Amino acid sequence: MTTIAVILASTRPGRRGEAVARWALDLASRRDDAAFELVDLAANALPHVDEPVPPAMGRYTHPHTRGWARTVARYDGFVFVTPEYNHSVPGALKDALDRVYAEWNNKAAAFISYGMDGGVRAVEALRPIMAALQMADVSAQVALNMHTDFTGFREFTPAPHQADALATLLDQVVTWSKALEPLRAPRPTVSSRRS
Ligand SMILES: Cc1cc2nc3c(=O)[nH]c(=O)nc-3n(C[C@H](O)[C@H](O)[C@H](O)COP(=O)(O)O)c2cc1C
Repeated sequence: MTTIAVILASTRPGRRGEAVARWALDLASRRDDAAFELVDLAANALPHVDEPVPPAMGRYTHPHTRGWARTVARYDGFVFVTPEYNHSVPGALKDALDRVYAEWNNKAAAFISYGMDGGVRAVEALRPIMAALQMADVSAQVALNMHTDFTGFREFTPAPHQADALATLLDQVVTWSKALEPLRAPRPTVSSRRS
């Protein structure tokens, strides 16, 4: 079964992202072509990158890096639920992406963003990072606006069309996760990774 992680990128107390991730998981779990699981960056508590060797070399030394590598390795694709912080990527998400390498390679990625302008600047910053990690980011995107998809900027009340946008996003990320499967087997060896 194709398994896709919904990565909750906000780690703040009172974060709006949790309701967004639950909404995405609820709709995704009605599908029968893939399984979806929540991966909460707040629960993974990763420090800033602290490995002595670049992650692309695959020589992870810390238990927290190895644990995160095992988590990422479990999935065929990813749906990132991300806020926009200062017109870019939340630091916790950037650290989580930077920390491992081969485990991201040849997997599909999709973005659900939110913010005053739909969080689109965070996603534009994330797309070149996907290229660097050899990930295939789908075009479909859900951009949730704090003005129209949240009541009083707090309660998540998505406009009806957002469910359709999510369905398209899920179609694409599932299709690409499956299509990339031949590239993921066998798993990359250390010598085939970039330095
Ligand atoms: C550190 C920080 C930076 C922010 N920068 C932006 C921004 O650049 N653009 C934007 O639309 N909203 C910005 N916001 C407002 C967020 O869209 C809003 O607080 C949202 O709820 C954050 O997601 P979260 O609650 O899941 O952490 C920022 C919020 C924080 C905490």
